[in-house]
Amino acid sequence: MSEIIPAIIAKDFNELKEKIKLVERRAKTVQLDVMDGIFVSDKTWPLDSFLDHGSGLAQGKPSVNDLEKLETNLFLEAHLMVDNPHRVLNEWLNSKVGRVILHWEAIEKIHNHEILPYKTQVGAGFPISNLAQEAHRNNKEFGVALNLETPITVLNNFISEIDMVLLMSVKPGQGGQKFEESVIPKIILLRQKYPDVKIGVDGGVNKENILKLAEAGAGFLVVGSAIFADDDPAKALEDFKKII
Ligand code: DX5
Repeated sequence: MSEIIPAIIAKDFNELKEKIKLVERRAKTVQLDVMDGIFVSDKTWPLDSFLDHGSGLAQGKPSVNDLEKLETNLFLEAHLMVDNPHRVLNEWLNSKVGRVILHWEAIEKIHNHEILPYKTQVGAGFPISNLAQEAHRNNKEFGVALNLETPITVLNNFISEIDMVLLMSVKPGQGGQKFEESVIPKIILLRQKYPDVKIGVDGGVNKENILKLAEAGAGFLVVGSAIFADDDPAKALEDFKKII
C-alpha cells in the first residue's frame, strides 16, 4: 500500500502551520523540507532569517522548537537538505518529528574526526551507523536520501541499519521541478535487492507519474506543488489517493 506524503517548503513557521492545516485532515504524514542555503541554494524555516516574510517585521528567531507550538496528530518527517547534518541532528531528534531524513551526499562529506566515537562502516568510512543509532535511541526513524546521480550501491554497507530510503526525482532545493524518469530504474532495482525497505520518491511527483512510481515499488510518494499549488490542496490530495 502506498502513502502520499504532502511536502511543505515553508519560509517561516506561520507558512508551515497554514500548509499543515490545509492537508492535516486527509494526510497521515507530512514532510517538512528543510534547506540551509548551503547544501541547496534556498533557505527555509527554521534556517531562514528571523524576518517574517509577510509583514517584514522581525519575529523571534525561528527554531525547531517552534514545533512544540504545533497542535497536530500528523506524523512529521524532516527532510534535511543541509550540510553537516550531524550538527543539527539532535535538535530534530528532540523535536516532534518521527522521522529524520539526511542526504547521503552530505553525510559522506562528514570528516571522521567530527563524530567520536562512532562505528565506521567497513569500506564506507563514514558514521551512518552512529547517526542511525542516535535516531533509534530517541525512538525516531532514520532515512537516507539519495540524489539522482547517486547510485543505490552506496546503501550496501548500511541498508540494514536505516528505516527508509528517499530517492530524489529532481535536484533537491526547489519545488515545482520536472520529474526525472531516471529514478524509476533505481526504484525497481532497490525493491528487487531489498524487498522490505521503505522506499520514498520525492520531486515532480504528479497525477501522471504517481501510479507508475507506486507500481515500481515506491511506498511513500512525496508530493509538494501538485498538492499545494492546487486551488484546493485537500481535494488534490484526495484525488491522488484515488489513483493509488
Ligand atoms: C526538494 C524538495 C521538493 C519537494 C517536492 O527540492 O524535497 O522535491 O519536496 O516538491 P514538488 O512535488 O513540487 O516537486
